[in-house]
Amino acid sequence: MTKTGPSSPDGIRMVKHDFSASYNRDWPHSYLKAHLALDYIIPDRAKPVFLSIFDRYRSLRQKDRLKIIDIGCSYGINAALLRTDMSLDDLYAAYAAEDGPLAGRRSVDHRAFFESRSVGADLHIVGVDPSERAARYARSVGLVDAIVTTDLEHTEPTVPEKRALEGADIIISTGSVGYATERTFARIYAAARISRPWVAAFVMHPYSYTDIATMLASHGLQSREVLAARQRRFSTASEQHGLLEVMQERGFETRLERTTGYIYASFHLSALPDEMPDQRHRP
Ligand SMILES: C[S@@+](CC[C@H](N)C(=O)[O-])C[C@H]1O[C@@H](n2cnc3c(N)ncnc32)[C@H](O)[C@@H]1O
Repeated sequence: MTKTGPSSPDGIRMVKHDFSASYNRDWPHSYLKAHLALDYIIPDRAKPVFLSIFDRYRSLRQKDRLKIIDIGCSYGINAALLRTDMSLDDLYAAYAAEDGPLAGRRSVDHRAFFESRSVGADLHIVGVDPSERAARYARSVGLVDAIVTTDLEHTEPTVPEKRALEGADIIISTGSVGYATERTFARIYAAARISRPWVAAFVMHPYSYTDIATMLASHGLQSREVLAARQRRFSTASEQHGLLEVMQERGFETRLERTTGYIYASFHLSALPDEMPDQRHRP
């Protein structure tokens, strides 16, 4: 049955700030300006968490080079942070300052910039995003190695896309659950299941990871909510009021959102039970 009403994904979308005009451009500048204006910070908060999970996975599976699938990769923001020593503020300044090294619009310069900042992270990153222009930018400047642009909410991946997803080690996501639901995660997991990848996802309140966790449980994965991290500032008092109302309806703890003026994301990790990191060693 389709979920409707204010707490359904579409209901949340009705009260939530709409960034979608910046999602599918040829260049990332308007995306970064729009997100900087609301102090969007989740990829920065996610970076050390992801890196710590990569380390743990590498030592458990005895593997150096990892294939990472980034759901909702957009212009390659997570990839840029994970491949370089840059913070999200560095990226904002590089693109948005008038004299920033990425203020221009020549792919060759952007590619050279990221190559020169690479810390040799030994990652093969596959970006998944139906915003095709954004994903193509990420591919063209070398931030991601392959892209999947079919909308996996509605359609199966093509044969080459399935091949790109095979052998995945870790599926990551920031800011995209809600647009991408268990349908997208299920199609990706089905394509990648032989390598039993982990899933590490930041899910903005009040979206839920429950249906994704249930789907992953059918593949033998256990899921754990590990921490909450700042996503961005509320755009207006009315957005804050609307999202708080939905959070309360859904039984979320609202203390952080009520007091800081920021909306938070919960971090969920799904892994095989015998590989799940010890709770005492939170990433
Ligand atoms: C807020 S942005 C997050 C981008 C990036 N992960 C970040 O944190 O900066 C949301 C992204 O979800 C993407 N998106 C929308 N529908 C999607 C879908 N069905 N599957 C995957 N991504 C989707 C949008 O195109 C957009 O790039």
